[in-house]
Amino acid sequence: MTMMQQISTEAILNVLKNVIDPDLKKDIVSLNMVRNIKLDQNQLSFDLVLTTPACPLKELLRSECLKNIATLDSELKVDINVTSEVTSIRSNEINILPSVKNIICVASGKGGVGKSTVSVNLAYSLAKMGAKVGLLDADIHGPSIPQMLGIQDIKPEIREIKGKHYMVPIEKDGVKVLSIGLVVDARQAIVWRGPMVTSALKQFITDTIWGKLDYLILDMPPGTGDVHITMTQTVPMTGAIIVTTPQQVAVADARKAVAMYRLDSMKVPIIGLIENMAYFTPAELPENKYYLFGKDGGKKLAEEYEIPFLGEVPLIQNIMQGAEDGVPAVNTTDQHIIDVYRTIAENAARFIAISNEKKQIEATTES
Ligand SMILES: Nc1ncnc2c1ncn2[C@@H]1O[C@H](COP(=O)(O)OP(=O)(O)OP(=O)(O)O)[C@@H](O)[C@H]1O
Ligand SMILES: [Mg+2]
Repeated sequence: MTMMQQISTEAILNVLKNVIDPDLKKDIVSLNMVRNIKLDQNQLSFDLVLTTPACPLKELLRSECLKNIATLDSELKVDINVTSEVTSIRSNEINILPSVKNIICVASGKGGVGKSTVSVNLAYSLAKMGAKVGLLDADIHGPSIPQMLGIQDIKPEIREIKGKHYMVPIEKDGVKVLSIGLVVDARQAIVWRGPMVTSALKQFITDTIWGKLDYLILDMPPGTGDVHITMTQTVPMTGAIIVTTPQQVAVADARKAVAMYRLDSMKVPIIGLIENMAYFTPAELPENKYYLFGKDGGKKLAEEYEIPFLGEVPLIQNIMQGAEDGVPAVNTTDQHIIDVYRTIAENAARFIAISNEKKQIEATTES
């Protein structure tokens, strides 16, 4: 038996600095991902804290850690506890919902391209990955979330705290949900003007007991009008996800949405783009893809504007059926659909983390 030299924590950290997170392009030690190092004889353990739940890079980073530690001492027994902690850039901002790490709006420009369906299935997929998720239906004139989740008859509880009234979101399948449609009669809201809509929406965000959330998803109304602009200026958003179908009329409107969020007065980072109804595949001919609305319209737009492409959702009857039945398609047994949205959710979480990291760097270089 050879005499083993006791390795120091510093030496461990030093070799772990060689492990670079490919997304964030920094080493995992500088990113504060290595925590709670415990060294005892020839046993080492530490936490590896990733920035997204169910990170696709998990195994890669783990094996890189092992490889680098082995250069110090190949006999060392290493136990890596991989966990996650979603990042946030909102903590330094105005005091609106400090316990919500990321506010993400799902927008499109054109109506009917599938924002609400994407919002619901994205929220559910993130929650399944272990994230704490809230979903707010911000479409005052055409709220669809209550129907899509089968909660149209539930009235949210109102709670009084220190003389102020707060709404309590409805918990459905682990997601905290609130829709303007559950509180305001759509027939009444139809005559509301811009400022009323905005102040109602703001109230839904601020006067609601959301609790601690990793992601609050806002299902936006169609268009790029006043509501969007004022909403973005009132509620500090982490980023926007743009949904489009492949056909040019939808892509043209998605272009407007991208331009709007990129305005100097808005400066909302675009997290990525999702192409919905990308193609149709009949159940009996699974290899055949029919591009009913054209091909790759969304993908090309993402390339042109250098926006991350989060994925494509095919036109599938079960997705529509799920929305009709009040059971999101990812909560059925259709594995294909579950996988499609899971990839999108993983990508969304990933690009939110990347966007946050970029903003963090910008903030430190500016100050
Ligand atoms: N991938 C898909 N496959 C099949 N049907 C879909 C798909 N995505 C959305 N749908 C259906 O298309 C219709 C419109 O979708 P949705 O309501 O999500 O669009 P939207 O952009 O939110 O509309 P609006 O602009 O009115 O808010 C719904 O009936 C929905 O069930
Ligand atoms: Mg909608």
